[in-house]
Amino acid sequence: MSVSRRITKAVIPAAGLGTRFLPATKAMPKEMLPVVDKPAIQYVVAEAARAGLSDVLMITGRSKRALEDHFDRVPSLEASLEAKGDHKKLSMIQEATALGDIHYIRQRDPRGLGHAVLCAKQHVGDEPFAVLLGDDLIHEQDDLLTSMIQVQEKTGGSVIALMEVDAQHISSYGCADVEVVSGSEYVKVRGLVEKPNVDEAPSNLAVIGRYLLHPRVFDVLEHTAPGRGNEIQLTDALQELATENGEGSGVHAVIFRGRRYDTGDKLSYLEANITLAVENDELGEELKIWLKEFVDRMDA
Ligand code: UTP
Repeated sequence: MSVSRRITKAVIPAAGLGTRFLPATKAMPKEMLPVVDKPAIQYVVAEAARAGLSDVLMITGRSKRALEDHFDRVPSLEASLEAKGDHKKLSMIQEATALGDIHYIRQRDPRGLGHAVLCAKQHVGDEPFAVLLGDDLIHEQDDLLTSMIQVQEKTGGSVIALMEVDAQHISSYGCADVEVVSGSEYVKVRGLVEKPNVDEAPSNLAVIGRYLLHPRVFDVLEHTAPGRGNEIQLTDALQELATENGEGSGVHAVIFRGRRYDTGDKLSYLEANITLAVENDELGEELKIWLKEFVDRMDA
């Protein structure tokens, strides 16, 4: 059953505890960790804006001020840069504010991603919406949301993004059991399981942090019991949507083959920084020379 309303709302959960990145995240949300020269979350909000998602709701938790402040104006800093005639830095700081209107709601207790999404119920209302995880960075050149939106317009229901991972790593992700839809580039999701043991995983297809959800997900989340890690898991709600019939049911998936970084994971965070810094107009050339020398020294 197709819900053909254009998706305009994006929900960005950023209320997790970020324990994988301690101690850096002891007093600061992991979404504020810089990737080259911008906090990780700014890349995510910019991605939503590029896909035409003009209404952003951020789910925040502890230390929410840093997140809100970053997307707000700082008149004194702007005036000082203006007075110095430093228009380059001025436009850099205005970039975050120009991304659109951002609304905030607080998840009082980090009871899991499913619970964070449920906090968006009132703001989203009865329309399909996007969820972009605040610590998942998709490379700007590898557009994923647009293809997901196209699939959602064809299939209705919900659409998730999957990525092939090495079989031994699947236990760190939600994992999908899928079937081919003949003549299509997307697949149908038969079932989902959160962080399965390697020998029980139905595939090596990992759920990554981009979702287009039918509002029916809120009804399901209302009764989703805590699952893995005693958290209310979005994967469990999607498993229910994938296996039920009726309005708002059905889950399809796009298999993403581009570049994606989990900035809440120390190694992936470093990879994101190096990749984007090498591509950066100001830093790239010098960094490449330094990196080559560094690798040569290590080999020696
Ligand atoms: P993660 O599982 O990566 O977040 O959730 P976490 O719990 O902060 O991570 P670790 O394992 O302790 O390091 C994915 C996304 O969902 C958000 C997180 O902020 C992240 O963007 N999230 C998670 C919430 O907003 N609320 C929650 O209760 C849990």
